[in-house]
Amino acid sequence: MKFLLVGLGNRGGMWADIVAAHPAAALCGAVDIDPARRDAFATRHQAVPLFADLETGLRRSGAEAVLLVTPPDGHLAQAEAIAAAGLPLLAEKPLAANLAEAAAIVRLMERAQLPLTVGLNFRYLPVSRAIRDLVAGGTLGRPGFGQFTYQRNRDGLRPGLNRYPLTMRHPMMLEQSIHHLDLLRFAYGREPETVTCRSFNPPWSMYAHDANVACLIGFEGGLEASYFGTWSGGWDALQFEWRTDCADGVIIQRQLFSDLAMARKGDAALTPVQLPDARAFIDDSRALLDAFIDAVAAKGPAPCDGCDHLRSLSLCFAAIEAHETGRTVALPDFHARHGLEMLT
Ligand SMILES: NC(=O)c1ccc[n+]([C@@H]2O[C@H](COP(=O)([O-])OP(=O)(O)OC[C@H]3O[C@@H](n4cnc5c(N)ncnc54)[C@H](O)[C@@H]3O)[C@@H](O)[C@H]2O)c1
Repeated sequence: MKFLLVGLGNRGGMWADIVAAHPAAALCGAVDIDPARRDAFATRHQAVPLFADLETGLRRSGAEAVLLVTPPDGHLAQAEAIAAAGLPLLAEKPLAANLAEAAAIVRLMERAQLPLTVGLNFRYLPVSRAIRDLVAGGTLGRPGFGQFTYQRNRDGLRPGLNRYPLTMRHPMMLEQSIHHLDLLRFAYGREPETVTCRSFNPPWSMYAHDANVACLIGFEGGLEASYFGTWSGGWDALQFEWRTDCADGVIIQRQLFSDLAMARKGDAALTPVQLPDARAFIDDSRALLDAFIDAVAAKGPAPCDGCDHLRSLSLCFAAIEAHETGRTVALPDFHARHGLEMLT
């Protein structure tokens, strides 16, 4: 499948390497509005034609699909051009930085009957799949509650990192927590029913808007989850733990991307769960790309499709509303009020 890669920043560079190494995919063009980014890209991928704007790339590259890896605030206009060109789309998360634009992208791709996949690659990490399988298989009995914590001090000025989160609204929620809330939905195999939230910015934060998110989420079947994430911790070291308590034991992910263990209620110690090796960001994205290529070729349902992503993104925006109003937000009511008919 011939891909046009749009956006040659940090993540676009990763996608370029993943496509280049894929036996069933190739880059037929790459687009960035920034000449410095195009120059840097050319040194690594000499044979790939470069374009300074999306429209020219769509017209001249001969693409069969588009990989959209630009910041979220331009995605709607870009998706309109891609839909007009009749191409399937694999777009990075978040699909947009506001809910109405994200829903508009989902609707326009549906109207055009074009596959839309969103970059929820962490669902393809072996550790995420293992948690999902343990929960679904009922190995430790019925899951009752989860606690997800992700704490780091993310240097938003570090070379190689994107800059726009420094100035956007809700950078933690929309750039990072979106992945975590999506993983909770994915691994628990349940939809959220209610959310309560406090979102805030510690006084020393380098981010213009909230770098901390705390949520309580009520999932179907009475499963409760607490979530705390920060990009502005008081310590640079990353601390991660995702613990799921079930009727007969616990499942604990102790490292970001790996290190899963479980214990039955009376066990004195945790037992590690064996996982295949995987390079975070690379092998999981590659697996998502495989699923996208297969779905397009077979004209089957796209993986991590637009509606699926909207369920996680709407949870983020419902959490923001819960924070702003100081109330618990019910998801079905939130979807109805925001005209998300595809989720009702
Ligand atoms: N799924 C993941 O694991 C993961 C990881 C990192 C980033 N991301 C996502 O990838 C996206 C890009 O992130 P990044 O870190 O690469 O950002 P970045 O700022 O490093 O790169 C974005 C690039 O897009 C280019 N661009 C902006 N507008 C454009 C336009 N209209 N046409 C063509 N190019 C344009 C910019 O010049 C820049 O080079 C974001 O949505 C981010 O959330 C996802």
